[in-house]
Amino acid sequence: MTEVGAPREERIRRALTHLRNDTTDEYEHITWFEPVEFTDPAIAARERDLIFGGSPSIVAHGSEIPRPGDFFTLRMPRNNIIVVRQRDGGVKALVNLCRHRGALVEKQEKGRCRLFSCPYHRWSYDTDGSLRTITRDNTFGPAERENLGLIELPTEERHGFVWVVDDADATIDVAAWLGPEMDAILESYELAAKICVQAEGFDEPVNWKIMQDAFLDGYHIQYAHPNTAAKHIHTNVMAFDDFGRHCRFIAPRKSIDRWIEEDPGDRSLACDVTETHFLLPNSTLLRQPDHFQLLTFRPHPTDPQRCRMEMRLIVPPVEQTDMTEERWTRLWDKNWQILLDVLHAEDFPLLRDSQRAMTSASAGRMVLGRNEMANQVFRRETRKLLAPH
Ligand code: FES
Ligand SMILES: [Fe+2]
Repeated sequence: MTEVGAPREERIRRALTHLRNDTTDEYEHITWFEPVEFTDPAIAARERDLIFGGSPSIVAHGSEIPRPGDFFTLRMPRNNIIVVRQRDGGVKALVNLCRHRGALVEKQEKGRCRLFSCPYHRWSYDTDGSLRTITRDNTFGPAERENLGLIELPTEERHGFVWVVDDADATIDVAAWLGPEMDAILESYELAAKICVQAEGFDEPVNWKIMQDAFLDGYHIQYAHPNTAAKHIHTNVMAFDDFGRHCRFIAPRKSIDRWIEEDPGDRSLACDVTETHFLLPNSTLLRQPDHFQLLTFRPHPTDPQRCRMEMRLIVPPVEQTDMTEERWTRLWDKNWQILLDVLHAEDFPLLRDSQRAMTSASAGRMVLGRNEMANQVFRRETRKLLAPH
């Protein structure tokens, strides 16, 4: 596997040394922030336009729409869209709005079709977005069909994921957005050869940044998840890499504990860590010893105090394992259930209350510690995107 930066085993040993010394990688500074960032409609509008209207974000894993005509619909921060697999194997994101009088062309969340047919006056569109039929066109008059296709958003499939920029006038270049380091890291994971075995979305009354922050946070585990995640993973210990826009960190799992006293020598400790990647603007990719989890956080189109989180479990297909189909299914079902339980019972209640707290009129400013490195990167980079050019 290609290495980016220090070799992985070396980074794992750096985390182990931190664990032994009760330290972690840190920045030299703390960062201040304001509660208004999570409640102000004007800030939320700038975020939708300048962050999501200008940068690629992940909307799915390609395996969720494997066949031509497979589609799903989605509410992006700026556009309602249909993401659909093309006959040539590509993917398009189309604005889900009929060019006649603006009906929602596709109501289903997910499905497969040969064409999109509008429920209002039954105009129909090819899956590539082009307008196929104007009903009763002998009476309709001279509309230019070529200019009345569904509007297309810049879309690219790379590293197994479907990426969209939420603005029809923008362009997309995922490799350039990721930068050489993160692009090489994702390439090395061969995510396109894996499949998304579980996916679910959650609409929560919480600002998207509060949610994103919680899933870049290795500092809360012991306190918010004492009987669940904290049994498996250490709190506040990380070996961190800052790549500018994006970052990653290794956190030791509890299975590493036998090597706190003993020298592990040259053996691989890859099974004893979780590696977290932050992909600006709104995703956390977790690399576990035998699978990946992707978490994405999307602002609500109008309300700064709402967002949608999506969680996906991305795993090697059963043929690439030595498991029976039954065992493989059971393993991922169990894994998924554990994740859901922690989310619903522990993270969501805490974060909903946090959003409520942020609405206090006299809330003071708040602070990120030197140890909260990924949260600092998230703050620093979103601020850059929002800065006037
Ligand atoms: S609004 Fe779609 S056909 Fe009239
Ligand atoms: Fe958590």
